Amino acid sequence: MGILSQRRKSFFLEGIVEVRVQQRLMKKELTLEDRVKNYLQKFPNYTAEIGVSNRIYGFWNIGNYYKRKHGYYGEYPPSFLERVFSLFPDCEKILHLFSGMVDTDIGVTFDINPELKPDVVGDVREILNHFKENQFDLITADPPYEEKDFKRYGCSPFSKKDALKDLHIICKPNGFLVWLDLMIPIFSKKEWHLIGYICLVCGTNRRVRIVSMFQNQNSNTIISGGDC
Ligand SMILES: C[S@@+](CC[C@H](N)C(=O)[O-])C[C@H]1O[C@@H](n2cnc3c(N)ncnc32)[C@H](O)[C@@H]1O
Repeated sequence: MGILSQRRKSFFLEGIVEVRVQQRLMKKELTLEDRVKNYLQKFPNYTAEIGVSNRIYGFWNIGNYYKRKHGYYGEYPPSFLERVFSLFPDCEKILHLFSGMVDTDIGVTFDINPELKPDVVGDVREILNHFKENQFDLITADPPYEEKDFKRYGCSPFSKKDALKDLHIICKPNGFLVWLDLMIPIFSKKEWHLIGYICLVCGTNRRVRIVSMFQNQNSNTIISGGDC
């Protein structure tokens, strides 16, 4: 490539970068403080249970299992998703991974079990066959936690590390992943930035869980952002 066309190409790329930066500034990304403020407006009775330092941190005590709608093993406790949505009010395209019998009209549901009638029946190990890259603003994930859960669902264990790798691809640049589990899953810092964790207690004889929140660290954030 001649020097002139090289210059033209870099001038063109600089233009794209500038426009994308301007678009992002105009849209104004919410800070972690904004997210917590929005949560506190929606859930004013739980003000002492959430805050921000360099990350969102918190403690949710959501008991009352008699309100369970379906009684599905591992079902989200009541108000769990509403709380998550209030932390991510700017997210429009949402994927519920390991959706089970998730009780919401918002977002696309994905589960391996066809009897649960998810929007997409599939195995997380093949999720890239189902979705294009950069598709979701927010992915919520509630996988089987340990061996006894896999047995209960009749599913074979998979690598959660690999799942996070693939989720990074289908999540939009700067999009979010909220992963509920017994531990913070292993992740690559090149792919995900841990922006918060909340301890979830659901009453006696229940496992204490952790809600880990990640933001997609996409090195192409500015140049190749947006839907495919
Ligand atoms: C903890 S439950 C999710 C329950 C859900 N949060 C709810 O509110 O109903 C875990 C789900 O993961 C699904 N699952 C297990 N292995 C999977 C896999 N390899 N790919 C996709 N889904 C899987 C199970 O069918 C089960 O519905």
